[in-house]
Amino acid sequence: MRGSSKPFLKWIGGKRTMASDLLARVPVGYNKYCEPFVGGGALFYALQPDAGYSATLFGKPTAAHLSDVNADLITAYTVVRDNIDELVDELKRHTKNHCFAHFQESRIAFADKSNPVKFAGHFIYLNKTCYRSKFEINKKGHFSSSMDTNLDGEILNERNLRNSSIALQGVQIECRSFFDIVPEPGVFYYLDPPYYKTAQLYNVGDFGKESQAAVAKKCRDIDKAGGYFMASNSAEDYIRELYAGFNIEKINVHRVFAQENTGKFGTQEELLIRNYGENENMEVRHERKKNENGDIIRQRQIYKKSTSRT
Ligand SMILES: C[S@@+](CC[C@H](N)C(=O)[O-])C[C@H]1O[C@@H](n2cnc3c(N)ncnc32)[C@H](O)[C@@H]1O
Repeated sequence: MRGSSKPFLKWIGGKRTMASDLLARVPVGYNKYCEPFVGGGALFYALQPDAGYSATLFGKPTAAHLSDVNADLITAYTVVRDNIDELVDELKRHTKNHCFAHFQESRIAFADKSNPVKFAGHFIYLNKTCYRSKFEINKKGHFSSSMDTNLDGEILNERNLRNSSIALQGVQIECRSFFDIVPEPGVFYYLDPPYYKTAQLYNVGDFGKESQAAVAKKCRDIDKAGGYFMASNSAEDYIRELYAGFNIEKINVHRVFAQENTGKFGTQEELLIRNYGENENMEVRHERKKNENGDIIRQRQIYKKSTSRT
């Protein structure tokens, strides 16, 4: 079953509405795609050849590594990749039984992680039916977000879930902090950390200024190692300072204002920071260094045209 694939989760801070902005800025010629704050994985899915974006001329990454510090999320990705038939059956059961009482039962069952397929079923069901897709866990480990009485969209989009599973075949999926990435040459890293003051929305602990500085440091390490990075972040002066010297662009993004929790849509300014590409129309020359086996050990792009940095 082929067709377009898109994220199988609704994820706060997800980049679906700006996927074409991101695609237009993907580097040419990388050898592996790495997304260490994967969340709903909007860019990973947009890069799939069947995603319907013209920019997929970049081609599907031949290798990919997706990770996040949220272990529950990573279980869901792993089950989508490895146990799609059983997961579809679970979600059919949830769809059939969906009501307030079933939602309450699922919230409690969510604390039992012994069966990954059942757990992933609860995770996706609750993600689709809870209020504003907010991932709230109480001290007992129970999912504590309330049910959305105006269900927006399907609980199970079987075609999309099966396409997600196809897209994930051969992909490394890992629960780890971005901090543990060891930068490699020729790899393209898309880093989309929680923005300042939004970490509470992901239930994975604090993500303050020190963490933002650690992400920027990781980006510098990627640059030094000969990798490519693109990072999303909020349009704040201290973020610009952290990434001084790199290509920083301000982008207008149409999204729900997650922090205000009002569900209102609006336009906000965000930053896209890269260690390559002054603008989309750049002329690029690729310089690659290979070892005796023909493996790329270092590569970089050289630009003929440059525009002023913002
Ligand atoms: C803005 S969201 C990513 C959204 C994603 N780009 C998308 O399109 O859906 C940020 C993600 O960072 C994850 N996260 C928070 N702290 C982390 C850490 N230290 N290491 C790795 N992931 C982390 C959260 O669990 C969340 O999924």
